Amino acid sequence: MLKVASFFAGVGGVDLGFEKAGFNTIYANEFDDYAADTFELNFGIDVDRRDINDISVDSIPDFDIMLAGFPCQAFSIAGNRQGFDDEKGRGNLFFELVRILEKKKPRIAFFENVKNLVSHDKGNTFRVICSELDRLGYKYLFQVLNAAEFGNIPQNRERIYIVAFRDKKDYAEFELPKSIPLKTTIHDVIDFSKKVDDTFYYSDKKNKFYNELKEHMNSHDTIYQWRRVYVRENKSNLVPTLTANMGTGGHNVPLILTYNNEIRKLTPRECFNVQGFPSSYLLPEQSNGRLYKQAGNSVAVPVVERIAKKIAQAIL
Ligand SMILES: C[S@@+](CC[C@H](N)C(=O)[O-])C[C@H]1O[C@@H](n2cnc3c(N)ncnc32)[C@H](O)[C@@H]1O
Repeated sequence: MLKVASFFAGVGGVDLGFEKAGFNTIYANEFDDYAADTFELNFGIDVDRRDINDISVDSIPDFDIMLAGFPCQAFSIAGNRQGFDDEKGRGNLFFELVRILEKKKPRIAFFENVKNLVSHDKGNTFRVICSELDRLGYKYLFQVLNAAEFGNIPQNRERIYIVAFRDKKDYAEFELPKSIPLKTTIHDVIDFSKKVDDTFYYSDKKNKFYNELKEHMNSHDTIYQWRRVYVRENKSNLVPTLTANMGTGGHNVPLILTYNNEIRKLTPRECFNVQGFPSSYLLPEQSNGRLYKQAGNSVAVPVVERIAKKIAQAIL
């Protein structure tokens, strides 16, 4: 069984997809203790909680596949590695992955990132990433895939996936998955009739903008979002892209009109459902804010699973 090392592992959404395709995570790095706790509750390994900048490559066990949904940061000067300090004075995190790839030379590297990685910093960021992969001798494919089109989950989530191969033969055998029909609806991942904890409901006592919400929210087949000055309706019957800042301020947590005509936020569990996590995935006792952030930071698991299965077909 091929061994996976997971960087920027979060709660392990990428790992889950790869494990479903038969791979085995033997190492994970994540410096956020809350996300690492969630990871450990669900995978049988201890998370390396060091900052990736502080990890010597020798302290990482050997592995075949690198997984990394790394944070997207600007590179200051293309091609000049001395110029890669961000404003916090830390090196660009992609170069920490390069440092590890250089020594470990895994057979495959899988990266996930925001859709605009390609246009970020006028294309410079992506150019640098590609030139580093070229320099290391990797051949790669990349594509933006929407979870609703490629993962059969009712979330509008466009993300770029990059799959890099050390061996030309593996690369030649690999293809990205094709789109599939969306057969699930928001009602499969959100229960509009279930009574949830009081904290999730909005009311005129708790929310200044409650009357505005009441006026606009009139469908049980739509997900809504309060955007500070207006209520946004997602007419496509999809959940809008879940984001990490759902945890802060709470305004971006998607809203529904329940069958009892009450207005409430999605629960953290529903957010994990919307990312395609199975119901067997355990959520720890942590604040809702932390769990929203972890769900928003994670990935559409079924999309990753489909890519991982294509990798398995190509190399096994
Ligand atoms: C976009 S999230 C990836 C989430 C993951 N794909 C998942 O399924 O949950 C990026 C993660 O990188 C972690 N991270 C950011 N900088 C880091 C660093 N310097 N060292 C280790 N982890 C870091 C963050 O805490 C965050 O959980």
